[in-house]
Amino acid sequence: MKLIDTIRLEFSPLIQDIIYLDSGASALTPNVVLDAMNTYYREYRSNIHRGLYDFSERATTEYENARETIAQFIGANRPEEVIFTRGTTDGINMLAELLQDRFEKGQNIIIPVTEHHSNMLPWREFARRQGLEIRYIGLKGGILDELALLAAIDEKTALVVIGHISNVLGTIHDAKKISDKAHKVGALCIVDGAQAVAHIPISVSDLGIDAYAFSGHKLYGPTGIGVLWVNYTLLQNLKPHRTGGDMVEYVTLDTMEYAPIPQRFEAGTPPIAEVIGLARAIQWTQDIGWEFIQNHEQELIQYMWQQIVSRPWIELLGGEKSIPRIGCFAFTIKGIHTHDISYLLAKQSICVRAGQHCASGITEKLGIAGSIRVTFGIYNTVEEIDILMRELDSIYHKFQ
Ligand code: ALA
Repeated sequence: MKLIDTIRLEFSPLIQDIIYLDSGASALTPNVVLDAMNTYYREYRSNIHRGLYDFSERATTEYENARETIAQFIGANRPEEVIFTRGTTDGINMLAELLQDRFEKGQNIIIPVTEHHSNMLPWREFARRQGLEIRYIGLKGGILDELALLAAIDEKTALVVIGHISNVLGTIHDAKKISDKAHKVGALCIVDGAQAVAHIPISVSDLGIDAYAFSGHKLYGPTGIGVLWVNYTLLQNLKPHRTGGDMVEYVTLDTMEYAPIPQRFEAGTPPIAEVIGLARAIQWTQDIGWEFIQNHEQELIQYMWQQIVSRPWIELLGGEKSIPRIGCFAFTIKGIHTHDISYLLAKQSICVRAGQHCASGITEKLGIAGSIRVTFGIYNTVEEIDILMRELDSIYHKFQ
C-alpha cells in the first residue's frame, strides 16, 4: 500500500468519501491521536503535578514529555519555553497581557493588514491601553509589502507582529529578516505560526524571534490546545498574568512565591488529554517525515496551480507562482457569491471555507467581499483536486 493510502486510513471522515479541503481552518485528527487521548482517559486519568500515586505520576510524566516533544519539534532551546494554551488566539491574548506596562506612550506597533484577527485585535487593544501608535502595513502585488514593513520599523518601534504564513494568501513571510530588523531597534518580534507548523519545519531559535504561537488542531491534534513559545530570557522578565492553583510554589495568607517557569504561566488544571494528543500528533507527523510531507504538498500545490491557470475565470489571490507558499488557495469567481459556491460544493461533500477567513484587512484592501479558500492537509490527493475542479466547472457554467 502507498504511504498516502496508509495515511488516509487514519482519518475516518475520509473513509466516508468526504473531500476535506479546509485543513487551514482545522485539520482532521488521525486515529493514533484519538487512541492516545483515550488511553489517558481509560488508564491513567488524573491530575498532574499533584498526586503521589502511580496514575498521577504517569499523567505528569506524559504531560512533561509532551512539552519536550513540542520543544524539539519547534527548535526551542529548552522545554521550559513552551507554555500550553487553548490555541493561537489564547496564546496571543496571553502574551498581550504578559507584555503590559513594558512600553512607553508614543512608541509604535507594526501590524500587517494580512494578519488574522487573532494577531491583530489583541494588539489593537494592547496599543489602545498602552498608548502605542499602530502602523498598518499594506499589500503590494497582492501580497504583504515586506519591504514597507521593514522600512516602517524605527527607533520608536516596540513590537512587530507577523503571521508566519498568511491564512488567506498562503504566502510565507520572512520572519527572520523581520525579526532581525526589529531587534536592531530593540523591538520585540511576535510570530503567529498557526498556518505554518503543519507545513514547514520550524526552528524558533533559528528565526531569532521572541515569541511564537500556534494551535494543536491545525497540526492534526485535538481542539482546545495550543502552544505559546517565548524566548527564555524574555520569559524570565514576565510576571504571571493569571493566578491560582499549580502556578505557585508556596503560599501564606500574606505572601506567595511563583512556581518555576513554565508552570507559573499555566494556572489551573490544564487540558491534559489534549496536550498528550498534540504530542502524539507531532510524533505521528515526524514518523511520516518532512520529506514526504513537503514533497506531497508541493505536488498538490503545483497541480492546483495548473488547474487554476487553465481556468481564466478563477481569480486567485496572493500574487505570482514564484512566491513561496503552502497549499492554501483563496480565489473568487466573478458574478458568483462565495457562499453560493461553498454551499454548492458542500452539497457534493466538498468542504472549503468561504468569506473573509477572519482576516478582513485583506478583503478591505482588495475591495472584495470575500473569497473561497481551499487548504490542503497531508491526506489530500490530486484526484480530490480533479473532483473539486469538475464541480467548480459545473458551478461556473450553471451561472453563465
Ligand atoms: N484560523 C482559521 C482559519 O484560517 C480558523 O480558517
